[in-house]
Amino acid sequence: MPSTEAVIAKRFNNLLRPLQVHINRTTVLAGELAEIHGVDKDVCELAAGTHDLFRSEPDFAQIAAAEKYGIPIGDIEAITPMLLHGPIAAAWLENEAGLMDNRVLEAVRWHTFGWPDIDDVGKILYLADKLEPGKINADPTLEPIRILAETNPDQALLQLLQKRYEAHQDRGLEVHPFTLALIENLKSN
Ligand SMILES: [Fe+2]
Ligand SMILES: [Fe+2]
Repeated sequence: MPSTEAVIAKRFNNLLRPLQVHINRTTVLAGELAEIHGVDKDVCELAAGTHDLFRSEPDFAQIAAAEKYGIPIGDIEAITPMLLHGPIAAAWLENEAGLMDNRVLEAVRWHTFGWPDIDDVGKILYLADKLEPGKINADPTLEPIRILAETNPDQALLQLLQKRYEAHQDRGLEVHPFTLALIENLKSN
């Protein structure tokens, strides 16, 4: 049976180059933030290196994979099946790649929405995913949040989540209850 690393590498190697670049940049930043904040670097890099393995699947494949793994498809995911790519990646990592580290699985599962009890690995992945150099290039207004992530990761996370909340409101999209709960938790800290 191939190793977990080999199964992951095979899937990664079949992704399109721009997605590979995003994953690699996210992994580098996750490693840097992990070091700064004293979080397990290997765990953060593994979460970052695997978080988007299903990001580029078309809608029908997202739905099919969610059904295969018994992942609930709520109203929000039904409208935007791409949002299932985190839970699908986590289920795939556990079932097909034999990855058992719950910190990695939870961080990957909830990297688009966040979750109310988010841990340090989840925070590092969320920050790195949204603040890697490609994202800063696309939206330079994120640069102050990237700098803030080095000193106050919770505040940086809150600002990113609030940005997401506002963007959803502007587009008339529903915000995931996990995102709302996480915003409230971070505000009350
Ligand atoms: Fe993603
Ligand atoms: Fe990503």
